Amino acid sequence: MILEDLFLADFKNYHNCSFSFSPKLNFIYGENGNGKTNILEAVSMLCYTKSFLMNAEADCVKYGENAFEITGNFKNRVDSKSTVKFLYHSEENVKQLICDNDKVTRSNDFLGRFPLVVLSPYDLKLTMGLQQDRRRNFDLLISQISRVYLNDLRKYSKIIKQKNSLLKDNLITKRYSNKELKELVGVWNSELLDLAVKLMIRRLDFIEEFKSYITSCFERIVGNRYSPVISYQSEIFEEADITGYNIDTLKNKLQSVLEEKLDAEIKRGISLAGPHRDNYMFYMNKSGEMFEMRTSASQGEHKTFVVALKLSEFGYINENLKHTNTGEPVLLLDDVFSELDKGRIKRISELITDFNQVFVTTTDKDHFGILKNNFTDSRTFYIVNGTAEKC
Ligand SMILES: Nc1ncnc2c1ncn2[C@@H]1O[C@H](COP(=O)(O)OP(=O)(O)OP(=O)(O)O)[C@@H](O)[C@H]1O
Ligand SMILES: [Mg+2]
Repeated sequence: MILEDLFLADFKNYHNCSFSFSPKLNFIYGENGNGKTNILEAVSMLCYTKSFLMNAEADCVKYGENAFEITGNFKNRVDSKSTVKFLYHSEENVKQLICDNDKVTRSNDFLGRFPLVVLSPYDLKLTMGLQQDRRRNFDLLISQISRVYLNDLRKYSKIIKQKNSLLKDNLITKRYSNKELKELVGVWNSELLDLAVKLMIRRLDFIEEFKSYITSCFERIVGNRYSPVISYQSEIFEEADITGYNIDTLKNKLQSVLEEKLDAEIKRGISLAGPHRDNYMFYMNKSGEMFEMRTSASQGEHKTFVVALKLSEFGYINENLKHTNTGEPVLLLDDVFSELDKGRIKRISELITDFNQVFVTTTDKDHFGILKNNFTDSRTFYIVNGTAEKC
């Protein structure tokens, strides 16, 4: 997939601005606070149906205005073109996504049509931060290649929401006796069981599949002194053998964990077990010693891990979509090179040459010198206060 051009109207600090992009490297530079990341955010809204920064649409309308528009023209592997338009009106709080003149009513049917991988400074929270950030990251990744996973995830989240609202509501109203409440929660538990196990198995399979991508990417950036490890942590795996899992074992195990937790769930008013509580753990094996990223990695190691993770996501999506017309994902690298030493920047820039279309933002114009030699085509954009000068 290639994003050929982009038009922004009253989006953040852009009043009216058009960009015509290179199919390879787009180098976007400028001083702090001028609107580089805003361009990437707009692209993510076209591909993900929401901002990669999780900003509300209302905050993206240019100050003093009441609506914004983002329009992008994409071209797929077989040169078929698509126009995607994202419109938002703040007065009615109405968001519209239009793809080739058709309104997109279910984002489930849309996600993955324009695959995208974003790497930004906010991704450091993947190795440093909360488990929900890691879950969200991998849910988005798997969803871009599997409609089944996305549908299961949506259904499961809906059930958990209803179960939580029952538990929370009863904590305040005491509408049901303990026995009645247990029966009602039991109904939700039996509804969620199959979905929960399907999600867990997909995630476990994903980790297995993803291992070779992240290992080789890491090796290309830092050599084989380091090797990354991702593991899946769940309440129900304490005793179950993860390598030999099957659907029935996992279902039985989850069922008994849910029964064990029932009293605690009622007491706390929240559901306590299932894939929405599971965790992806990141470890690093450094010269034979294993340490957990979150607690023990240095700043540079965090950054390197996240860069390798995201570049591997690109390879993973690409491989999984190779038999479709969609084509390779677009890669957005927001301010990635600051804090990395020149050697790593050089190796990363060599690595991304194999990629499809890449957008790089930076405050340092000199990075262009390192990057440009690796690309057959490039365009640079100098961003000043919501305007772009093509250089
Ligand atoms: N709704 C909005 N309306 C107008 N301007 C906005 C809006 N939201 C954010 N901005 C402006 O956009 C600018 C930030 O843009 P952006 O984050 O893209 O900068 P940047 O060039 O990436 O900077 P840095 O190099 O620091 O990352 C800020 O100056 C901010 O005030
Ligand atoms: Mg920025």
